[in-house]
Amino acid sequence: MAVKIIGTGSALPKKVVSNEEMAGLVETSDQWIRERTGIGSRHISTGETVVSLAVEACEKALAHGDRKASEVQLILVATCTPEKGIPCAACQVQGLLGAAEAVAFDLNAACAGFLFALHTAHAYIEAGIYDNALVVGSEVLSKVVDWTDRGTCVLFGDGAGAVLLERSGQPGILGFVQHSDGTKGGVLQCDGRKLENPFVSLPVGNPFLSMDGREVFAFALRQVPACIWEALSQAKLSPEDVDLYVLHQANRRIIEGIAGRMNLEAARFPMNLERTGNMSSASIPVLLDELVREGRLQEGMTLVLSGFGAGLTYGACVLKWQR
Ligand code: ACO
Repeated sequence: MAVKIIGTGSALPKKVVSNEEMAGLVETSDQWIRERTGIGSRHISTGETVVSLAVEACEKALAHGDRKASEVQLILVATCTPEKGIPCAACQVQGLLGAAEAVAFDLNAACAGFLFALHTAHAYIEAGIYDNALVVGSEVLSKVVDWTDRGTCVLFGDGAGAVLLERSGQPGILGFVQHSDGTKGGVLQCDGRKLENPFVSLPVGNPFLSMDGREVFAFALRQVPACIWEALSQAKLSPEDVDLYVLHQANRRIIEGIAGRMNLEAARFPMNLERTGNMSSASIPVLLDELVREGRLQEGMTLVLSGFGAGLTYGACVLKWQR
């Protein structure tokens, strides 16, 4: 499957909120948050939006890939926290970038959103419909977090990451799988606007994120190793053949648990959640961009990307790193 990532970029809000500051807002402590999640601080918007963060991440990915916005043919923005219902974030990003030739639309699969968008862009390129695509994960979760609920507000952060994909002569994506389980949607949810028109007015739901943390934890440990194995078997590779596992940064204990279940050392699972918290769809592309900029990705390395979250949605992709 001949697609490669030729550029990466990311953007985080300026304001950093430490665990100590969180302890001033709700009854919690740095020790509790670190021990249970591995999170030490997170970036929180004081004005940055899903669109502004996405534009900054895309501009960096374009500069990194040495391409102009006018050359981009497809823009996919994965987000579950758009500012506007209409128009979609991707069209706003297209307008601000000046990517006049690009088709743009959003995709919402929560924390698996970036991965699903990557697979979608890959399918378009493979089918010969487009030659390149900007794939973005961008979230301002601080809008939907209940800042009085210590069980959730300590977990999340805001940010965006983008990759620029292009058709390649070499196999790039070696295998990928995606799954959804809509029967478990209640485990992690956030209601939208209520139905109100001249004929009906339904009660308001909960416009803030609510979560059954233990269920999410158990789901991730059960399903993520299984779907990684599925993607690896498509690629005819074993877990030891993979150099780095770039997983959704939900929580350190989940990532270490997945490494343990796969009998792999935690060192193959890079993490940045200590500084970012859980940024939902943005977490994989932000981490990927940081690895690129730290010089940790070398040509020919084998990577697994895996996203999992609300829906429930989960998936994995095996790729050969080439630029
Ligand atoms: N500070 C202090 N105490 C807290 C906090 C907090 N921030 N949050 C909860 N507690 C308390 C609870 O009130 C409870 O107190 P009680 O026993 O007096 O009732 C106690 O800690 C234990 O609560 P649990 O929810 O049972 O704690 P648990 O050990 O399960 O840890 C956690 C909670 C960290 C959320 C864990 O369930 C988890 O990691 N789940 C995964 C959830 C996740 O990562 N979600 C991210 C979004 S989904 C995704 O991205 C895939």
